[in-house]
Amino acid sequence: MASLPFSILIFGGTGIIGKHITRAILSAQVSPGHSISIFTSDATLSNPDKEALLSSWKSQGLRVVAGDINNAQDVSRAYEGVDVVVSCLGRNTLTVQTELIRLAEESKSVKWFFPSEYGTDIEYDASSKDEKPHQNKLKVREFIRNNIRSVQCTYLVTGPYIDMYLTLLPGLEAIGGYDARSKKAVLINSGEDAVGFTSMPDVGKLLVAALRNPSEAKGKVLKVQSFVTTPLEILREFEKKTGVEWTTDYTPIQALRDLEKQLWDGNNPLATAATLRRIWAEGRTLYEKTDNEKLGLAPGDMETLGEVVGRAII
Ligand SMILES: NC(=O)c1ccc[n+]([C@@H]2O[C@H](COP(=O)([O-])OP(=O)(O)OC[C@H]3O[C@@H](n4cnc5c(N)ncnc54)[C@H](OP(=O)(O)O)[C@@H]3O)[C@@H](O)[C@H]2O)c1
Repeated sequence: MASLPFSILIFGGTGIIGKHITRAILSAQVSPGHSISIFTSDATLSNPDKEALLSSWKSQGLRVVAGDINNAQDVSRAYEGVDVVVSCLGRNTLTVQTELIRLAEESKSVKWFFPSEYGTDIEYDASSKDEKPHQNKLKVREFIRNNIRSVQCTYLVTGPYIDMYLTLLPGLEAIGGYDARSKKAVLINSGEDAVGFTSMPDVGKLLVAALRNPSEAKGKVLKVQSFVTTPLEILREFEKKTGVEWTTDYTPIQALRDLEKQLWDGNNPLATAATLRRIWAEGRTLYEKTDNEKLGLAPGDMETLGEVVGRAII
């Protein structure tokens, strides 16, 4: 497939989803005269856990720019000659993006910016604006709507990562999930409410597909996913693959709502996870049609439930 005709700079490139996005962009390659860079901190560069990853990426042509995302000079310098910025910053640094986008608008070269989204649809319906975990991403979108004129932004809305959904959060098992070791599952309600998921490798694939289709992607909120399934179908897939019946508990949606409130009232950082699980269980990941096709991706191009469950039991 043709290489990408851009110079791309990635923020948060070694993060949980950033790794998959950086990997996919590096695999797609950029055409001669262009470059792929990540902007990262000295802390990441001196992190022994990230050393092997960074040196393997560098051998594939990745440029590494060290700097502080809060330092305008560092950021503006990194933008020189860059056409596309892909932000994969984590939840704790989402609001920094307003300044990063403002500096992109000020730069002479940046034309296209992907703010860090890659998750739950923060403008799904009228209820979305009141959901606590959405507030920082909503602020970023509002800033862009009110202030950004020349840089085009694309929001890649992927819904929950199936890979993360396949685990149980210790101490918070009631919000739902699966534990392949103890063969235990917790389902919300009867487990029959459909959810639209994306696998983490597919997030990278979908981002590259957006870069390959600028006319469909620029200035858009893209709703994409790997597949739709139910928590019960996921359980059946685990049981098929492990050859045994799992122990299953059920959390009624009202119990999840009560737990969510209790966690927010106690300022527990896990409250975000409970809210997102409730939003997903309530059906706010479902669309009549996704934008996959517009990006040139057919169902066969996406990972399947069988593949991701297979990975989870290794
Ligand atoms: N759909 C889902 O189920 C789901 C799940 C998780 C996250 N998400 C979304 O995915 C996006 C990325 O989240 P993530 O979990 O992948 O992020 P993360 O791993 O927590 O952080 C990503 C990167 O942000 C940078 N960063 C974090 N704190 C920083 C700081 N104080 N100063 C400078 N840089 C900092 C680091 O960049 P370097 O690599 O350069 O050091 C880090 O690797 C978010 O929008 C999040 O909401 C979605």
